[in-house]
Amino acid sequence: MALLSILHYPDERLHTVAKPVEKVDARIRQLIADMAETMYASRGIGLAATQVNVHEQVVVMDLSEEKNDLQVFINARITQHSGETTHEEGCLSVPGIFETVTRSEQVTVEALDGEGKPFTLEADGLLAICIQHELDHLQGKVFVEYLSRLKQNRIKSKLKKQEKNTL
Ligand code: NI
Repeated sequence: MALLSILHYPDERLHTVAKPVEKVDARIRQLIADMAETMYASRGIGLAATQVNVHEQVVVMDLSEEKNDLQVFINARITQHSGETTHEEGCLSVPGIFETVTRSEQVTVEALDGEGKPFTLEADGLLAICIQHELDHLQGKVFVEYLSRLKQNRIKSKLKKQEKNTL
């Protein structure tokens, strides 16, 4: 396994649209293992392949407190959504920034699991929010892009300052 480096907003590569996975093979299983390790090491609850500069439709998540419930979504599609909810979101690609975003309250998602087996999941609460956040990444969208242009520019300059300070 290996730790992967995470792209930081406003890196243009975060706007790449991911392609469907053609076959869940050893290469994809390795990617999943590396993404999970990277997510756990960064104390995140979700990670999309886009964030590690791999532009295929793979997402890993773990919302459990014990960090022992890895969920894998390959080629995921939201087939139904309803309601509206707001939540203060963060993102490993936008370190230190937390902003409120409005999303669907419930979603039904169809995807393949880590073995390539299809499943359907009805999600609500944090799981539904996280699924929408991660699937946005695969479409090239970062959560701060739901905010006003003014706020986005403030976040960009804040992140630039942070990066400078860590050099
Ligand atoms: Ni994110």
